[in-house]
Amino acid sequence: MARILVTGGTGYIGSHTCVELLESGHQVIVLDNLRNSNVKSLAVVEELTGQQVTFYQGDIRDAELLRQIFEKEAIDHVIHFAGLKAVGESSQIPLDYYDNNISGTVNLLKVMADYGCKNIIFSSSATVYGNPHTVPITEEFPLSATNPYGRTKLMLEEILTDLYHSDKSWNIVLLRYFNPIGAHVSGDLGEDPRGIPNNLLPYVTQVAVGKLKQVSVFGDDYDTVDGTGVRDYIHVVDLAKGHVAALKRLAPETGLSIYNLGTGQGYSVLEIIQQMSETVGRDIPYQIVARRPGDIATCYAKVDKASRELGWTATLGIKQMCDDAWRWQSKHPQGFED
Ligand code: NAD
Ligand code: WQD
Repeated sequence: MARILVTGGTGYIGSHTCVELLESGHQVIVLDNLRNSNVKSLAVVEELTGQQVTFYQGDIRDAELLRQIFEKEAIDHVIHFAGLKAVGESSQIPLDYYDNNISGTVNLLKVMADYGCKNIIFSSSATVYGNPHTVPITEEFPLSATNPYGRTKLMLEEILTDLYHSDKSWNIVLLRYFNPIGAHVSGDLGEDPRGIPNNLLPYVTQVAVGKLKQVSVFGDDYDTVDGTGVRDYIHVVDLAKGHVAALKRLAPETGLSIYNLGTGQGYSVLEIIQQMSETVGRDIPYQIVARRPGDIATCYAKVDKASRELGWTATLGIKQMCDDAWRWQSKHPQGFED
């Protein structure tokens, strides 16, 4: 059992991962500046697990605070979620993204090295595959980025790889998430986006609950089953469990490993709207609009490597993802403020 620093642990994926870590017997220390999250998520984590989380409100760019945490908490491993993640916003304020994601991570890595903690799991993204030439996507596919957010993930993968090659006592796991959706089965922990959601699922559930009028489907002329974009949606609880499985790679040997975390199955936008309509029990209004610039037609993962090396596979299907997302949205229409 380990003491784990979870940066960004009050956020969507981080809070679900805290639940799985605690339920696996680990101790959890969270650092988050609450820029895109609500500290109430941790109260829910504690309620669901019956265990305590140590929380530091602060920034990964604050070296002094990081030193205090490493001094006091005897951290074994870091799971590093903290970062800004909105693709559109990253083109408007690229320097914020480079400062927060890149400088913040470099700062974290320096302090980790100072304290001899060289075990890190990093939240990467399928966005590093750019526009893949074919599917399913394996970890060996060529990498590229099409926006500043994606570039931060790609650069951080390169920085972490350089670090490992410079000092083989580091132990680094890069997890490339596909499209995380869904919520904890209790309906009390879920995604709580600020303002109008950028991603499909929270948009659809907000239409279903009556907060938004209709879903805009971005293009129906892609070369896919029904012309709408196809993605590999993965239940956030499966994704969280993938992190617990990845901890196995952090000790006792060292190394640099990369895994896709997805289901290996793609669903179109219309299939998602259809499934959510069944979950909710009524039609969800939508209209077809123009393609969103930068979107690709199809993206889904080959997931054999994680299965083989981590003993992890996603087990929850699209119905469960929609049911759980809807339970969270309908129980808490205003997110954690309800
Ligand atoms: P999120 O915004 O809910 O969580 C990120 C957390 O990091 C937030 O709580 C935020 O307040 C915190 N944070 C941001 N900058 C910080 C800083 N400088 N110091 C301290 N805390 C800071 O996002 P999420 O969906 O949970 O994503 C977690 C990670 O996974 C991110 O790195 C994201 O880029 C990556 N990722 C997300 C997705 C997705 O679709 N949700 C897909 C692939 C990768
Ligand atoms: C899914 C599908 C849209 C909204 C993004 C990031 C990626 C990763 C996950 C962090 C696409 C369509 C969407 C809407 C729609 N994040 N859509 N109407 O674009 O696959 O990935 O989140 O790393 O980096 O790019 O996810 O949920 O935005 O879109 O029709 O209102 O839904 O065109 O086909 P995406 P998404």
